[in-house]
Amino acid sequence: MSVHPLLATRFSPLRFDPEWSLTDDDVDLLLEAARWAPSAGNSQPWAYFTARRDEPEHKRIVPYLAASSGRWAPSASLLIVTMAHRYVEDTDWAYSDFADYDLGQSVAHLTLQAHAMGLACRQFRAFNLDGLSADLAPGPGWHIVSMIAVGRAADERPADRERRTAAELRSAPWSGGL
Ligand SMILES: Cc1cc2nc3c(=O)[nH]c(=O)nc-3n(C[C@H](O)[C@H](O)[C@H](O)COP(=O)(O)O)c2cc1C
Repeated sequence: MSVHPLLATRFSPLRFDPEWSLTDDDVDLLLEAARWAPSAGNSQPWAYFTARRDEPEHKRIVPYLAASSGRWAPSASLLIVTMAHRYVEDTDWAYSDFADYDLGQSVAHLTLQAHAMGLACRQFRAFNLDGLSADLAPGPGWHIVSMIAVGRAADERPADRERRTAAELRSAPWSGGL
């Protein structure tokens, strides 16, 4: 038994095919995968602002990319801004203690759905969070967390990817003993 090929072959490209376009159905399917993620109390504390390369929304958000992501993200077929519902509207009460955690699970679903469709995603935080937040103005209690570039990878999965071992995962950060 080995890890499923969908997981084993996923990677985050740093180059995207600038000619590849996504259809409306492609984008709908990615969001369909995202919406079926589990969440605490089924709170579903996620939202996605989508901008295909040919849409006006793309021109609107590209200026907020950092110098680093600005080199590769604009050529992806689709940019997504992710948002988490952290607080109850106009209060400082947590909407969910797991809002960012659950958003991450939803993004993982989207990412694997993309890979199953022959696409690839690179999630990133290299953008002007304050500027983009002021422009998109998420609703009360909602916060921008990350962005995702989605498209056809134009580079190969690196051979030298590093991960901590499974043994390390079960040994490291607690001191209470078994
Ligand atoms: C929340 C998050 C933020 C990230 N931010 C950036 C970023 O700002 N710039 C970047 O090039 N990659 C970014 N990445 C991509 C990671 O560097 C990448 O997932 C990691 O190196 C593992 O590589 P892999 O996805 O190919 O397995 C981010 C990934 C995540 C999940």
